[in-house]
Amino acid sequence: MKTSSSFSLTLFTSVLLLAAPAQPLHADVDCLSCHGDPTMQDANGKSIGVDPAKFHSSIHGTLKCNDCHKDIHDYPHPDHPAPVQCESCHTDEAAGLAGSVHAKVNDHPCTSCHGNAHVIVTKTDPQSPVYPLNIPKTCGSCHGDPAMAKKYHLPNVYALFIDSIHGFALGKEGLLVAANCTSCHGSHKILSHTDPRSSTYRTNISATCGTCHVGINAQYQAGVHGKAVAAGNPSAPVCTDCHTAHGIIEPTSSDFRMQSTPICGSCHRDKFNTYRDTFHSQLGLLGGYVETARCWDCHGAHDVLPASDPRSPIAPANLVTTCGRCHAGANASFVQYQPHANARNRRLNPALYYIRLFMNLLLASVLTFFLLHTVLWLIRSNFARKGGAANGGKHA
Ligand code: HEC
Ligand code: HEC
Ligand code: HEC
Ligand code: HEC
Ligand code: HEC
Ligand code: HEC
Ligand code: HEC
Ligand code: HEC
Ligand code: HEC
Ligand code: HEC
Ligand code: HEC
Repeated sequence: MKTSSSFSLTLFTSVLLLAAPAQPLHADVDCLSCHGDPTMQDANGKSIGVDPAKFHSSIHGTLKCNDCHKDIHDYPHPDHPAPVQCESCHTDEAAGLAGSVHAKVNDHPCTSCHGNAHVIVTKTDPQSPVYPLNIPKTCGSCHGDPAMAKKYHLPNVYALFIDSIHGFALGKEGLLVAANCTSCHGSHKILSHTDPRSSTYRTNISATCGTCHVGINAQYQAGVHGKAVAAGNPSAPVCTDCHTAHGIIEPTSSDFRMQSTPICGSCHRDKFNTYRDTFHSQLGLLGGYVETARCWDCHGAHDVLPASDPRSPIAPANLVTTCGRCHAGANASFVQYQPHANARNRRLNPALYYIRLFMNLLLASVLTFFLLHTVLWLIRSNFARKGGAANGGKHA
């Protein structure tokens, strides 16, 4: 340190002594003769030191200082040199960023994601802020900031992501192939999910998840839901309707099994209501019983098909197998049980309808009888009390 600062002081003085004419600078040795002191500060106390060792081992270490600081050729140099234009060399990334959601944000130059320009390393270096395992934290420096979330009316997705299965796999297991922010959003050309060109636009989501979950996407595309989305039905579900985008949890966890039944039910209201009347649902409500049959245990999760399709797990011929996964002794008569029996529908379920009607009538008449009985009892006891009073109240 001492040598470099005294050296720069010497240079500084010699430059001052030679004052005019301006001295051409031989980047980068000359620049570092002053700026190579990492403790160097400008008049306002802002650090203007550049660590030579770190700079030389960075990806730009072989560049000259004024390959980037293009307006600095002589000393004295401008106090406030022109901002560095990364786009002069990286045209593709710059073009992507210019058309992206981040283009509108003033304080969003390249360095907001890549960090200090003098120490940039390649993206495969674990030190890089854009190394896969570091990306959530890098994006999270803004998208995990509650003040920013409020200002731009954006959800705090970082917090959701970190606790998700992908966040856990990246952060806790160091699994490089797990989804990080850029796997779904891209890096530079990030577009809003309301833009049809975006990888997160509703109808593109299955392809985006499908870059990694190839098998599941194929099943999903073969099922009614995938086909309906492909045919342009806006009310059919995509991956994130059932899994969410950032807070994805393990589908076998009890939380998922509890919360996803109402998710299927939010679209299939009638089937949800009838399911809720059944033993399976009632069992599920009692203390969160996990093992009971949920919608997808009978219907499948991704390759969902109507009952009329012979490949469907709920096609009459497949019911013994489907129910048999949990009911060891299931046979043709066992599967007569109707998982969506609707006791309110006389046409579809006449027997149940009349049983329910009978039970309701029975309930009503029993209640009416007891009501009448109580009223008559009250009248009688009142009458008896009055009779007692007329007798002079002389009771035992
Ligand atoms: C003789 C010493 C000296 C040399 C050589 C020198 N600088 Fe500087 N540089 C300074 C000083 C002093 C300042 C602070 C000016 C101020 O206080 O505003 C500065 C400021 C800067 C700034 C602006 C910092 C800011 O606050 O925005 C940049 C960029 C810069 N120098 C780059 C370079 C480059 C690139 C070279 C080589 C081509 C170079 N300098 C050579 C002394 C030097
Ligand atoms: C890859 C491009 C690049 C190279 C090469 C580069 N710089 Fe910079 N430098 C930047 C950027 C970007 C900034 C941030 C300010 C801006 O955008 O102009 C910066 C800022 C500075 C500053 C102001 C203090 C700071 O850290 O913000 C100084 C001083 C400076 N550079 C000196 C140098 C010196 C000396 C060298 C050569 C050893 C050098 N730079 C090489 C891109 C570069
Ligand atoms: C003078 C041209 C030039 C300028 C200006 C420049 N770079 Fe570079 N940059 C390069 C070269 C050359 C490489 C190494 C070859 C490559 O991988 O493209 C590189 C590599 C990179 C990489 C690493 C690529 C990888 O392998 O992961 C990043 C990130 C990067 N530059 C960002 C920036 C940023 C940010 C700026 C502005 C602060 C900038 N560059 C300015 C020439 C430049
Ligand atoms: C929103 C964050 C963000 C911003 C802003 C950003 N980058 Fe990147 N950049 C990334 C991520 C993440 C990666 C690594 C993943 C990848 O290659 O897509 C990356 C990779 C790169 C690479 C290496 C590309 C390759 O394929 O090897 C270069 C070069 C680069 N960025 C330059 C820039 C430049 C120049 C700017 C400014 C115009 C910029 N970046 C702005 C996030 C960003
Ligand atoms: C320097 C802060 C900052 C960083 C770092 C940053 N963003 Fe952003 N991002 C913003 C701001 C601010 C907006 C809102 C822009 C607007 O609405 O004009 C935004 C918007 C977005 C949106 C669009 C939201 C919508 O409207 O649908 C997405 C998606 C996004 N960012 C993803 C990312 C990803 C992925 C990364 C990391 C690779 C990242 N951001 C890094 C500040 C940042
Ligand atoms: C598994 C894919 C995936 C990952 C990983 C992911 N996102 Fe998203 N993101 C999406 C989808 C899909 C949307 C579209 C809206 C939705 O479905 O919630 C979205 C929406 C957003 C939005 C806009 C929210 C809104 O409601 O306007 C922001 C900001 C965002 N993501 C940032 C990030 C950041 C930061 C990370 C990393 C911490 C990240 N995302 C990780 C898929 C993902
Ligand atoms: C970059 C590749 C990648 C992308 C893109 C991706 N995932 Fe994943 N996902 C993984 C990996 C790897 C795992 C395994 C993590 C583990 O088990 O630790 C995983 C796990 C999961 C799990 C839990 C699986 C289980 O058995 O517990 C679900 C659910 C999931 N992802 C859904 C999605 C959805 C929905 C999307 C799109 C919005 C998506 N993924 C996008 C790589 C990806
Ligand atoms: C209609 C709701 C729904 C849609 C749409 C959906 N999933 Fe699933 N997904 C589920 C359910 C329910 C499970 C749990 C299955 C189980 O436990 O047997 C599941 C399980 C998973 C698993 C864990 C592995 C497995 O088979 O158990 C992954 C990974 C996954 N889904 C990814 C995706 C991807 C990627 C998409 C979009 C292409 C998608 N899901 C679309 C409901 C859905
Ligand atoms: C976002 C709304 C939505 C969600 C969530 C949803 N579905 Fe669907 N589902 C639909 C639509 C719309 C159709 C009709 C598709 C078509 O045939 O055009 C459909 C069709 C079906 C069919 C075939 C019925 C028929 O009449 O053809 C079954 C079975 C089914 N869904 C079961 C499920 C199950 C099980 C879940 C949860 C794992 C679920 N759905 C989640 C919207 C949804
Ligand atoms: C115990 C197994 C089982 C469970 C659990 C179950 N279903 Fe069903 N579902 C069936 C059977 C069997 C049929 C066909 C006979 C019928 O319509 O009652 C069916 C029919 C359907 C249909 C109409 C399919 C067609 O092709 O007409 C939809 C939609 C549906 N169920 C959705 C759901 C939803 C949503 C849930 C969860 C709230 C659910 N199911 C829970 C077994 C089940
Ligand atoms: C994911 C596992 C699972 C699937 C699949 C499943 N059930 Fe069940 N079911 C249970 C559990 C757990 C109980 C409560 C414990 C018990 O009685 O075995 C139960 C209870 C029942 C009962 C009342 C108690 C009894 O055993 O008589 C009937 C009836 C029934 N299920 C019918 C069916 C039919 C019909 C199907 C296929 C359409 C089916 N279940 C599919 C898990 C399942």
